[in-house]
Amino acid sequence: MTTETRLPVEASACGKVILLGEHAVVYGRPALAAPVCGLRARARAEPLPPGSGCWIEALDTGERLRLSEAPPDHPLAMAVRLALEHLALPEPDLRLVLRSELPIASGLGSGAAVSAALVRAIFRWAGQSPDPELVSTLVYEVEKRHHGTPSGIDNTVIAYERPLRFVRGQPPVFLAIARPFTLVIADSGIPSPTRETVAAVRMGWEREPDRYERLFDAIAALVREAEDCLASGRIEDLGPLLDTNHQLLRELGVSSPALDHLTRTAREAGALGAKLTGGGRGGHLIALVRPEQAERVARALQAAGARTTYRTEIPATLSMESPLRH
Ligand code: MEV
Repeated sequence: MTTETRLPVEASACGKVILLGEHAVVYGRPALAAPVCGLRARARAEPLPPGSGCWIEALDTGERLRLSEAPPDHPLAMAVRLALEHLALPEPDLRLVLRSELPIASGLGSGAAVSAALVRAIFRWAGQSPDPELVSTLVYEVEKRHHGTPSGIDNTVIAYERPLRFVRGQPPVFLAIARPFTLVIADSGIPSPTRETVAAVRMGWEREPDRYERLFDAIAALVREAEDCLASGRIEDLGPLLDTNHQLLRELGVSSPALDHLTRTAREAGALGAKLTGGGRGGHLIALVRPEQAERVARALQAAGARTTYRTEIPATLSMESPLRH
């Protein structure tokens, strides 16, 4: 294959929030997720002189590695190798520089976003643009190696960059959203790898399968109600569903005193509802707010110990469709 360009190319991938349904989604229940388009991982591919080999540099972590010497399961190397294998390309002479605005181990999908940015950069450098389904499939391979039993929701929402309903093993369904809504996303400042919280839930489920199945079913019911609220524009009704989902996540054992405190603070400051998002025990929470309350809720969260806050708008959409049905 000789289609590689010789100019630097750049690619990026968004972060994500789980609106409702995390953890239960690992056990076959539906979950709703949305992209966070303003927070991104970026990869730049710069050609190197012949014989230099392929180097990956992650500027945020200070990591620098040569592709041919990286362990087989190194996540960055794995993403690059999977893309090259798919394109049937040998190791290129290339410097891949990574930058990410997404904190690691914080529930915003930083791992999947970095993999997706690398995959896209390799394809772009080879003069191709992969469709979202392919990006999702390749990133899922990396996720499986690093998160034990990932449902596939992170790679899917990040690859498609659209709000969606996800059920494990099924094509995503894009959400119908009749009215835009505003989220304040806050960082508890406590890193918490998803692999560990997923493993903790698995242990609980093995110990008390009936109780955990009941909790997963209750979460699934909230997800269905939330989808109706979004489709009919009843944004105010979504708030209590987030609160109940947070309570159920507490019962699953994946909240923490800091997340409970911050979600309570958001509600007291006027949020319509609030919950942890992603793996939990640390990482981020989301607060659903009326736009005019966003500033007040963000300030209250910061005063209560949130490390950072970020406001994002989820726009209205027009139709509900599955990408694999066209
Ligand atoms: C992580 O963003 C969501 C979890 O449900 C794990 C997964 O679905 O793979 C906690």
